[in-house]
This record gives sequence, structure tokens and C-alpha cells, in this order.
Amino acid sequence: MPQGPSTHAIHGQNQRGARPVTYPIYQTAAFAVESNDAYEHIGDYGSDDYFYTRYDNPTLRNVSQKLAQLEHAEECLLFASGMTAITTVLMTLLQAGDTIAASRALYGGTLQFLRDFAPRYGFHTILLADDQLYDLERHAPQAKVVYFESPVNPRTDCLSIRRVVEAARRIGALVVKDNTFATPINQNPLDLGVDLVIHSATKYIGGHSDVTAGAVLGSRERLLPIFTARKVFGGIPSPHDAFLLDRSLKTLELRMAQHNASALALAQFLETMPQVRQVLYPGLPASPSYPVAQEQMRGFGGMLCIELDSLKAAKTLCDRLCVVLNVAHLGGPETMVSLPALTSHAALTPDELQRARLTPGMVRISVGLENTEDLIEDFRQALAFIV
Ligand SMILES: Cc1ncc(COP(=O)(O)O)c(C=O)c1O
Repeated sequence: MPQGPSTHAIHGQNQRGARPVTYPIYQTAAFAVESNDAYEHIGDYGSDDYFYTRYDNPTLRNVSQKLAQLEHAEECLLFASGMTAITTVLMTLLQAGDTIAASRALYGGTLQFLRDFAPRYGFHTILLADDQLYDLERHAPQAKVVYFESPVNPRTDCLSIRRVVEAARRIGALVVKDNTFATPINQNPLDLGVDLVIHSATKYIGGHSDVTAGAVLGSRERLLPIFTARKVFGGIPSPHDAFLLDRSLKTLELRMAQHNASALALAQFLETMPQVRQVLYPGLPASPSYPVAQEQMRGFGGMLCIELDSLKAAKTLCDRLCVVLNVAHLGGPETMVSLPALTSHAALTPDELQRARLTPGMVRISVGLENTEDLIEDFRQALAFIV
């Protein structure tokens, strides 16, 4: 029987026999086997036997199966953080001498990996503007991997996933997309031809600001070498963190509906405030991202970004908010503001910040699950302190 995302995320796969309402935490580092014959399968991906939690664990696999279904993927691998997921994928796909074409507007940690670590392994990085990612034959014909986000952290600009995939196909490159801001509820990039989707599950998927995790999704064939790399690099989440993710998935669809609705209402309110120079949110019809977001997203997400006149004004806003917290994080039930230039993108040089179109007066807002009118009132009173 076909099931909606919430039904599946709550129940997972039917199992016979004892069936606890919440999936148990297999809090064990290793598993005993009945016979040495089982070790024939020790390297297998998705084996019925479990051997060692760094390889796989039932609590992790339960979450992987649910997440795979939500993201329309054949398989999913969980990681200890979003960054471990990203670096493990890139270290697996690339070899010395290979080129990666990436969007120049990305989460700061990913840009830092590409700038400071990728060259040590002989990977060449070409950072491109959005429209250049649609014309890879011209700007990065040798690229083996194309990497991007949409909506992009922190500006929430949207790129056409379909157009990036078409451009990558013309040069024979694989496409990897960070889908953290959208979540599988709002957008399924694999349906549009992306090869691998990555999530920082620390954000909306975890959704309670209490777990650090990552996920990689795609076909079984694509995930096989990444499974081996995860075993070797060791970036596996704990069974307890996987248990927390299972708890979170049960409300993901509900939470996203509220994040989407509240973010739109707050964006519409902020558009009317004279202190706000610009509101960046893909759900606003005036946004340049609106047409493409409408084409590829089911909801516009809980993230928005506003631009004030100066760093001083941005700091004043953050300091004067009462309900909203100043946190370098996103995707939780709490509404959070952060200044990208000081937090997520602090590792970027002024020139890199400019190329990522980030200004000192920008404030990233992760709209949480509080009552929308309380959030609007909080921003109204805090903006009044900006003169
Ligand atoms: C879009 C995006 N991708 C990846 C990451 C890294 O995830 P984690 O903090 O779980 O390592 C972040 C963190 O903020 C992010 O915003």
C-alpha cells in the first residue's frame, strides 16, 4: 500500500514478532556470530549479519532505510556529521589529478575543505558562479565531480538542479548535492538526476538541536565504495545518535510544514521593515530564486537571510532579540540568528566572502517552531533599536 512520508517515517518497515514502538538502541560496539562462516560476509554492504558497529548497526540501518525512502533513494549511509559525510564522499570519488567543479557559494566548512585540504591530495577545485555551473563545457570541461547546494547556505539562492545535471551529463561528471537546507520533505534532487545527495542531519533531520550527524543517499552502486570508505575513515554516528534521528524523523514532515509557513510569514513581515535592506527567501515572489524554487521545491524551507546596512546594525539586531537565540546552528525548534561573516563563513577571506555575495550586514535566520506572531513581535521590537 503506498504510504505518505510521515506514515513511513513513523513505522518504517513492518517486522514480525516483538515490535517495540520505538526502535531499540543496539548499544554495542560489536556482534557475535554463530559460526566463522558468517565472516565470509564481513565486507558486504547491507549484509544480514552484523559484525562491528563501525561497519553497520541495526539502529543505524533502521534510520537509513527510512531516510532513503524519504529522499527517494535506493540506499542511505549515516555519518558522524555533515562534514564527515561531505569529506568521505569527495575523498572516495576523487583521485590525485582529478578536478571538482563547485559552486563558489557553499557552507563555509565545505569551502574550507576545498581550499585548504583538497590541494594536499592533488584535487583541483574550480569555484563557479551559478550561471557558470549551467555551462560546464566552457568553465570546467575536465571536472569529474560537480558539487553544489540549493538553497545555498546562507543566502538561500536557488540553482536549477535540472540545469546543473544537464550540464554535468554533457561533460560526463557526477553530480553531488548538499540538500540540507531543503530537506527531503521540500525537495528530492535524486528525482532530478543528481547522483548523490548529502545532508547535515544535525540540522532539520535531527531537528531538536541535540544530535550531530550526516547522511549520504543514492543508488546502491554509488554507495558501495562510500560504505567501504566509511568503514576505513570511521566516521560513523553512535547508535544513540541514530536512535535520536529515528525519533526526529517521525515529526519531520510536520515540523517542515511549520518551518515553511513561519519562514514565509516572517519574510513577508521583514520585507515591510525600513531597517531591512533586502530579504532573501525563495518563497517571496519578488525573489530571483522564486521561479526555480517553485519548479523544484514543494515548500520553500525555514531559512531566510536579511541584509541590514552594516555589521553594527546586524549585531544590534542579534543582541536585542529576546525570544530568538544567537546561535551558529540551524534547523532546530528554536529560532536562531547568526552572522555568517563571523560564524559559518568565518574561515573565508574578504575576497572569498565577496565572491560568495556575503556582506557584513547579513543575518541568517533559521525560523523555528515557536508561535509565528511571537517571532514577528520579537523582530519588530529588536529592529526598533537600529537607528
Ligand atoms: C549546508 C550545510 N552543509 C553541511 C554542514 C556541515 O554539517 P555538520 O555541522 O553536521 O558537520 C552544514 C553545517 O552548518 C551546513 O549548513
